[in-house]
Amino acid sequence: MRTYRNRAVSPRFRWRSLMAVAPITLAMVLSSACTQEKPAETEEPPKAGKTPTAAAAAQTPAQPAVDAAELLTRAKGLFQGPVPERLDAPNNPATEEKIALGRMLYYDKRLSKGQDISCNSCHMLDSFGIDAREPEGQRQVSIGHKGQKGDRNSPTVYNSALHFRQFWDGRAADLVEQAKGPVLNPVEMAMPSEEAVVELLKSIPGYVEAFGKAFPDAGKDAVSYDNMALAIAVFENGLMTPSPFDKFLAGDTGALNQQQLVGLKTFIDTGCIACHVGPGVGGSMYQKLGLIKPYETKDMGRFAVTQAEFDKFMFKVPTLRNIEHTAPYLHDGSIESLEEMVSIMAEHQTPSGKISEDKVKSIVTFLKALTGTVPTEYVAEPELPESGPKTPKPDMT
Ligand code: HEC
Ligand code: HEC
Repeated sequence: MRTYRNRAVSPRFRWRSLMAVAPITLAMVLSSACTQEKPAETEEPPKAGKTPTAAAAAQTPAQPAVDAAELLTRAKGLFQGPVPERLDAPNNPATEEKIALGRMLYYDKRLSKGQDISCNSCHMLDSFGIDAREPEGQRQVSIGHKGQKGDRNSPTVYNSALHFRQFWDGRAADLVEQAKGPVLNPVEMAMPSEEAVVELLKSIPGYVEAFGKAFPDAGKDAVSYDNMALAIAVFENGLMTPSPFDKFLAGDTGALNQQQLVGLKTFIDTGCIACHVGPGVGGSMYQKLGLIKPYETKDMGRFAVTQAEFDKFMFKVPTLRNIEHTAPYLHDGSIESLEEMVSIMAEHQTPSGKISEDKVKSIVTFLKALTGTVPTEYVAEPELPESGPKTPKPDMT
């Protein structure tokens, strides 16, 4: 049995240090972005004695050449990457057996009341972890048991192990707690109870064997709702997508081209990094939607969880990894285009206010460097164990 160990620095340590700097970063960015000198957006004649170099002349005037090494130093401090190969929690060590079980459970539609929906229905691993089912309109909010609509957009499961909490409102502490939610959620997989899930799993001989191997110390209690969640979470801990940006963070200054570097600098200077920081380029704090300029939405975010006035319109800052492939955007899936999303963010979330179209494009160019490589073999759909004679039949009531 091979035990996977997280190769990166202890995640707990990394998070604690990141959380410690995050509020300072926010204050610094918000104050500095206000006073920051505006880079020229219109064409200006070159000043005497400052003849542009050939390389700079090839750029548009709004994009002066960026010093990759200097930017790398800043970026390392902000993003603390590159992304690890997997990120396991100390209390849920990964083994090949547990990962294999988690992968089967992730894909198994029998875990839903109608036996027609699995985790992969709403978080498709061959579509960057989002709900890309047809028809198109379905992507805004997911459809669960008996065609019922939820009220939030399905976020990607890729890189979710990097998040400090799970869900748009952070109501689950981690992936283990999260995995227990959708199976029993009446508008998602709609199973009636934990006991019903355990009974179903026990009726499938292949699962009894697989749980036994994944949890060898649990004896006859191996098949349990908690262990189901532990196995799914362990599988998800390996859903990392290393991108060109990670190569850059690892020290390869050539991994991003000039346009992408300019985009990263624009992302930083506009103030996006007040919130989208850390290895996930997000996922490390809650923030108010409409912090600088109110933004209209019905969803109160974290307020629904805590009832605290302060939490109105507070959401977990989402990861921006693979963002070019995870439209539509926001908690309600209301924004379809990435350009529009970036423009809204600048206007409503940063002191920079509305930014030029060129700057929006530049930021989008950088965001595309966050598109990673999906671990195709790791996420390949496994063969599922056959139902036994006592396995319940689909129930569409
Ligand atoms: C019917 C569609 C649907 C199904 C089935 C479903 N999910 Fe989700 N999932 C969602 C939606 C919608 C959200 C966001 C809900 C919220 O934040 O209130 C979500 C949130 C998540 C998150 C949090 C990600 C983040 O960025 O906070 C994870 C992880 C996740 N789901 C994993 C799973 C797993 C594992 C399963 C199977 C056990 C599953 N989901 C089944 C729709 C679904
Ligand atoms: C004050 C914090 C804050 C700042 C600054 C900020 N964002 Fe956001 N961003 C958020 C929050 C919170 C959300 C989620 C809001 C929601 O879904 O209701 C979000 C959502 C997004 C999304 C959609 C993600 C998804 O999966 O739906 C993108 C893209 C984005 N931000 C990019 C940017 C860019 C680019 C900038 C800089 C121009 C920026 N953000 C600045 C807090 C911030």
